Amino acid sequence: MRILIIYASIHHGNTEKIARAIADEMGADIVKARDADVEKIKEYDVIGFGSGIYFFKHHKSILNLVDKLPETAKDAFIFSTKGGTPDFINHRALRKKLLSKGFRILSEFSCKGYDTYGILRLVGGINKGKPGIREIEKAREFARKLKERLN
Ligand SMILES: Cc1cc2nc3c(=O)[nH]c(=O)nc-3n(C[C@H](O)[C@H](O)[C@H](O)COP(=O)(O)O)c2cc1C
Repeated sequence: MRILIIYASIHHGNTEKIARAIADEMGADIVKARDADVEKIKEYDVIGFGSGIYFFKHHKSILNLVDKLPETAKDAFIFSTKGGTPDFINHRALRKKLLSKGFRILSEFSCKGYDTYGILRLVGGINKGKPGIREIEKAREFARKLKERLN
């Protein structure tokens, strides 16, 4: 079973930490959304899509990539890091796009990430130090459970 993690992490590298932990735990390949090749993606059985949340959505490089993918029946999962808005809002746009392409969404993960956007910068940001050891361990646990389900 070939697993690919596709991610974007532009604010503080928060999501990259989570993406690398999940990839390590699942023995998955990992690529930035902007470097991902549609033909290559077709070679994988399961694809994890993740990024920071920017204005209640995943990064546009993830959303645009999904638009370019062909109809499929593959398995997918979603992850993100965020300042604080709820995941049922944050994951909605990506979830909808994946479902419309025929992906089956196995599971979703999200945690807080250091956020200094806008006026938050003036107060030194929020969620300093996140994702830290605790969040990364939760991401690993998420990945282990997912891997068990796939085996
Ligand atoms: C332009 C911008 C918009 C953001 N919008 C949201 C938002 O709508 N909801 C939220 O919870 N966090 C928001 N954040 C915070 C990021 O989601 C958070 O810092 C995330 O961990 C960044 O991940 P990254 O370092 O991988 O890019 C925003 C950050 C930036 C820079």
